[in-house]
Amino acid sequence: VIPIGGADMPVVVALLNSYSGLAAAATGFVLMNHVLIISGALVGASGLILTQLMCKAMNRSLPMVLFGVGGPAMRAEDLYEGRVKTTTPEEVALLLDGARRVVIVPGYGMAVAQAQHAVAELAHRLEQRGVEVVFGIHPVAGRMPGHMNVLLAEANVPYEKLLTLEEVNPTFDYTDVVVINGANDIVNPVARTNTPSLIAGMPILDVDRARSVVVIKRSLSPGFAGIPNPLFAADNVLMLFGDGKRMVEELTEALKSL
Ligand code: TAP
Repeated sequence: VIPIGGADMPVVVALLNSYSGLAAAATGFVLMNHVLIISGALVGASGLILTQLMCKAMNRSLPMVLFGVGGPAMRAEDLYEGRVKTTTPEEVALLLDGARRVVIVPGYGMAVAQAQHAVAELAHRLEQRGVEVVFGIHPVAGRMPGHMNVLLAEANVPYEKLLTLEEVNPTFDYTDVVVINGANDIVNPVARTNTPSLIAGMPILDVDRARSVVVIKRSLSPGFAGIPNPLFAADNVLMLFGDGKRMVEELTEALKSL
């Protein structure tokens, strides 16, 4: 497993986990122990199913995960230099105030910042102003399946507002503003190109098709896969640097004063 890295590692962990179940089941046959056979088979089967689901979500085959290697990453300095535009909560509040449709894209950073309640409050405020708000949920956003769904459910965001990748992608063409909170790899357009990389071929949220995109994160550092993101240097993208929770709270405050 030494050469396997980035987003492929959790897949390998799930696979090795399933082997532990299969080994236990095999031991159960040797010892004629039914409990060991059944529990081992359950662990083995669920691990294999999880491995397959994760490969599917990243559009990669298992042999590609195990034996393929990612290509050389582009240099972040070349990609970002002179192209990244920063913004402030007040500016973003103005942008959101004039929007008719907003998509919020949560990622791992929202979980780290524990920003789910602040994000739900922002969505509520926007809806009070007549803005249509939905959430775009990528199947591998965060660090475990359903990570974002659980956090947003905790913040009482109605389930019907959470759109899957397949549901939300066709709607970006008529979306005014996308607010990305702590997501990176799941919106990295490199995945759509032929450039060899750890996320090549992974389906992503096509946020760059929206009119404006605001990315809330603390720096330009890469996400889990460890590769730079050309989205941050795109013409229609503004970077709001700061903690995911604090920035959303400041944004909501700025919105209240408009
Ligand atoms: P990532 O690509 O990991 O990006 C998360 C971003 O959050 C980082 O770039 C980081 O940037 C930002 N962040 C961290 N702390 C923050 C904070 N307090 N406030 C604001 N931003 C913060 O996340 P993603 O887009 O959700 O993608 C998930 C990745 O994890 C994929 O590569 C996926 O394959 C992998 N993965 C997924 C799973 C499952 S099943 N969900 C399991 C294992 C791995 P800054 O440091 O600049 O703030």
